[in-house]
Amino acid sequence: MTEESEAMTLTVEEAGLALADPKAYADDRRFHDSLALLRRESPVHRVEAPGYTPFWGITKHEDVLEIERNHPIFLNAPRPVLGTAEFDALNRQRAEQGIALRTLVHMDDPDHRVIRAIGADWFRPRAMRALEPRVRELARRYVDRMVDLGGECDFAQEIAVHFPLYVILSLLGLPESDFDRMLKLTQELFGGDDDEFQRGTTNEEKLQVLLDFFAYFQGLTEERRKHPTDDLASAIANARIDGEPLNGFDTASYYVIVATAGHDTTSATIAGGLHALIEHPDQIERLRAKPELMPLAVDEMIRWVTPVKEFMRTATEDYDLRGVTIREGDAVLLSYPSANRDEDVFDDPFRFDVGRDPNRHLAFGFGVHYCLGAALARIEVRAFFEELLPRLGSIELAGTPESIATTFVGGLKRLPVRYSLA
Ligand code: HEM
Repeated sequence: MTEESEAMTLTVEEAGLALADPKAYADDRRFHDSLALLRRESPVHRVEAPGYTPFWGITKHEDVLEIERNHPIFLNAPRPVLGTAEFDALNRQRAEQGIALRTLVHMDDPDHRVIRAIGADWFRPRAMRALEPRVRELARRYVDRMVDLGGECDFAQEIAVHFPLYVILSLLGLPESDFDRMLKLTQELFGGDDDEFQRGTTNEEKLQVLLDFFAYFQGLTEERRKHPTDDLASAIANARIDGEPLNGFDTASYYVIVATAGHDTTSATIAGGLHALIEHPDQIERLRAKPELMPLAVDEMIRWVTPVKEFMRTATEDYDLRGVTIREGDAVLLSYPSANRDEDVFDDPFRFDVGRDPNRHLAFGFGVHYCLGAALARIEVRAFFEELLPRLGSIELAGTPESIATTFVGGLKRLPVRYSLA
């Protein structure tokens, strides 16, 4: 059977099930064929996957926007990301015990607004500009590292995964000596469905990863309360709401969201962005000839990769979308990769175009939860490719790239490349 006829025999039901199947996310073709079919045939699609509480898969750009805009109706709590029914139940139980992760993405107004404001100053353009020289220095360090690796490396594992983590450590004000520990913890937390990164298979073991994060950050909070410094970690540790400091879990949760949200997302974009350039050598030439296209190229890489695969919302009242009634209490899954390939919004969406303009991608979400680190992510991706491209002679694949199997945040876990670099 040819690949084409396989795509044609995919049923809408199978396409819907792909939304809850981590392995489908690691298979680009199956994944995008499924999403395209859903956009066409069933854009508000009921998914009843074994082991999961049923949800609605939302695959059109316009509908993702509509739901994000309607944040008083569609809440992040209690199920902000897709997990198995068993995992959802365990999280509920932990929440009742007061020991569940409660980050910005778990919250709604009024708490969300107040808590988001604590970190928001640190992500404003002025603060980001101040961080830029450090980001550029780190980008240069990793391009130098590619030279040291002698013309061949696994770019995903040896370069892309490290650079953004160093940026995050700098933002938080943490020592570089904590690098290995943070790398392992973020991979265990976000690569949770992929066998390679799993610490264990049980939900208890997955939750243990979270508790390890908490323990690490508890120490950091105490340290910054005793000795405040001029960094994001101090701003979080010493924040006051109605005169009271944040409790231990809220403080640790804040660190966790910054450390995790800011790491794998950007790594995946840099690795996936390089892969896209290798596959489209004409686009590398275009960028070399017109370096001023870089900001557009960065957003095209972010659209192309869309490293955050989904967030979920739960309806607080019945809601009609495209003639389908989403019932109060139902969860909806916002499929960002699908929105970012929507034929009604993007001209030739499967073309990688470093000059794409306009590019109304939703990779950073939209509205009140819009990615706090979007400006930083753009600076990082831009700095990296601005350091790399002028020094790059040739580059090609040296093996088969592999993607991580996860329904949440992911991209390439292996990108073997061969290159010449000055
Ligand atoms: C939230 C994507 C990098 C911090 C989000 C959301 C998305 C996203 C889709 C949820 C938005 C929504 O619900 O509407 C990305 C992508 C990145 C990236 C694609 C890289 C290319 C970063 C970085 C940081 C960061 C570098 C910080 C250092 C956050 C935080 C939130 C968030 C704190 C929660 C915001 C809230 O709920 O109010 N991000 N992100 N992200 N991101 Fe990012």
